[in-house]
Amino acid sequence: MASQEANKIAGAVLMAGLIAMASGFIARSLVRPVELKELAFAVEKPDAPAAGSQAAAVPAEVPPIAPLLARADLAAGEASAKKCAACHTFDKGGPNRVGPNLWDVVGRKPGAQAGFAFSKPMAAVAENWDYERLNKYLANPKTAIPGNKMAFAGIPKPEERAALIAWLRSKADAPKPMP
Ligand code: HEC
Repeated sequence: MASQEANKIAGAVLMAGLIAMASGFIARSLVRPVELKELAFAVEKPDAPAAGSQAAAVPAEVPPIAPLLARADLAAGEASAKKCAACHTFDKGGPNRVGPNLWDVVGRKPGAQAGFAFSKPMAAVAENWDYERLNKYLANPKTAIPGNKMAFAGIPKPEERAALIAWLRSKADAPKPMP
């Protein structure tokens, strides 16, 4: 009698297991989970820094200076060059100071001014100083030529750089053609 009871219990347990398995199988075949390829709602990633933030002041990509050069203000350029005067002279035959003399710098080979001990990275620049190269260098000397030794933060404003570069161009016997 006792074994009959045990059989009933075992049968009930087995049956319950079978029902659980079967219902799981049926449930899965009724409700097919669909795997999403993308998130149902996109999470917006800010890729442009907010206006006025530190990062916005020094763009990684320096926009071309050529369009601004034509209407550059030479007087403003001369005023801006005062920022350089602690280290550079600009007159013909002027001495090298902390930095090299910059007479006729547009078009000349970087790191080649006689009598000045340039850093290796500066001397290694193969292409001559053209307007865009000066633009990038003066925007951010550190990142434009990594390892160069000009301790100057750079001029973030494109209009000021254009004025300064136009004025630098004028400091030559035969100024190079405008771009
Ligand atoms: C604190 C000193 C300092 C200031 C300020 C400074 N420079 Fe320089 N500059 C240097 C030094 C030092 C070098 C040489 C860099 C090297 O050899 O790595 C240099 C190199 C240069 C060169 C490359 C010259 C060449 O013959 O290849 C240019 C162009 C230049 N500076 C422009 C400027 C301008 C324009 C300003 C002002 C907006 C300025 N610098 C401000 C110290 C300075």
